[in-house]
Amino acid sequence: MTLDLSAFPADFSWGAATSAYQIEGAVDEDGRTPSIWDTFAATPGRVVAGETGAVAVDHYHRWSDDVDLMAGLGLGAYRFSVAWPRVQPDGVGLGNAAGIAFYDRLVDRLLEKGITPWATLYHWDLPEVLEQAGGWPSRTTAYAFADYAGIVAESLGDRVKHWITLNEPWCAAFLGYASGIHAPGRTEPAAAVAASHHLMLGHGLAVERLRATVPDAQVGVTVNLYPVVPIDDSGRHDDAVRRVDGLMNRWFLDPLLQGSYPQDVLADLAPVTDAAFILDEDLAAICQPLDFLGVNYYTRHVVGAGLWPGSSEVRFQLENGMPKTATGWDVDPDGLVEILAQVQRDYAPIPIYITENGAAFDDGTVVDGVVRDADRVDFLDRHLQAVATMRQRGLDVRGYFAWSLMDNYEWAEGYGKRFGIVHVDYDTQVRTPKDSARWYASVIRAHRDATMTG
Ligand code: FCB
Repeated sequence: MTLDLSAFPADFSWGAATSAYQIEGAVDEDGRTPSIWDTFAATPGRVVAGETGAVAVDHYHRWSDDVDLMAGLGLGAYRFSVAWPRVQPDGVGLGNAAGIAFYDRLVDRLLEKGITPWATLYHWDLPEVLEQAGGWPSRTTAYAFADYAGIVAESLGDRVKHWITLNEPWCAAFLGYASGIHAPGRTEPAAAVAASHHLMLGHGLAVERLRATVPDAQVGVTVNLYPVVPIDDSGRHDDAVRRVDGLMNRWFLDPLLQGSYPQDVLADLAPVTDAAFILDEDLAAICQPLDFLGVNYYTRHVVGAGLWPGSSEVRFQLENGMPKTATGWDVDPDGLVEILAQVQRDYAPIPIYITENGAAFDDGTVVDGVVRDADRVDFLDRHLQAVATMRQRGLDVRGYFAWSLMDNYEWAEGYGKRFGIVHVDYDTQVRTPKDSARWYASVIRAHRDATMTG
């Protein structure tokens, strides 16, 4: 272990994360209606091998054993997401008691086991009925989201005190509505920009509902941040860096934390949209005081100018000599230090939780109850060390959630990419902690012992 545990305070949150569509299955049980991911996954050609989340890892039925598994690892916190189409099947109107009951049971059991529940309200599973009505490019979806947030807060807020409104609005907006590689699979750049704005508006309105319903709630939002660096230091690529950092990081952080959109990004987007959907009052609604910022970190982007001088095209350099995960992402713990330093430099101090970090590797199979995943152990160790480094530099990082508790449905990649610290046999649904889970448990234990005696 390279990890210096003394950098982590006694109340540091050691967690793991999942999301509803990736693990629950049971897509048509107890009144749940289809989400955009059910529709997208059922569309030929969208997901590798046509795989869907219809069964996933059957967490909807195995939740109790899964909580035991978490307790066995010594997790202090568990980040899950609530499925909107389970809780409010029509996307508007009344909540669905049977759907809510699932999360009631889950939360009660977590608390019984001493695990703090962290609920994410939106991890990409928009009710299909709302997509049919326009989806996130439509302003009404932001209002619908606030109503849904109110229902969940009323149901769980007496016990759930840690809330994340959105997971990675960049992905929901731009992968969902511009590149179309995620649900709903639209390729309409102007709609994607509108979607990003309405996601953030929905966040702001949901924060208001949460505060009104759960006065002692800790409320935040989770963004996926990337350090962006040039292919070389010739200076020719600085504008590409500015553009990518602008759209992926600042386009979200600035309105959420400072109440303004970056002017340079608005100018970059001018050929795509006049942004008339941004109303004057929206920025005040979006920029709510937050208790923390959730940061998901996976990799960095190395970018260069387009091949034609003066073009606005950007090239992403994929072959850059860095070691890769099974999804082809660079293994780059220094990138976590850099992006956190950027947040520290550019925004007012705010507590930070790493709400996702992890990697897919081609793990071996289960042999005698053991899965050797040394790559993942090394990955987690080095990224936790990056967190320690930033704490030593004065950044208030209060917790870390490994992505993911267990192997699951990796969106358009299907089941082929395994991110779990716990292995799942998809034929039998048997869970087997990998070496990384055992290692993580030993870190948590060592930290607990050190802070109890020290
Ligand atoms: C993030 C998502 C999460 C998971 C990881 C690998 O972008 O939030 O659901 O798919 O990537």
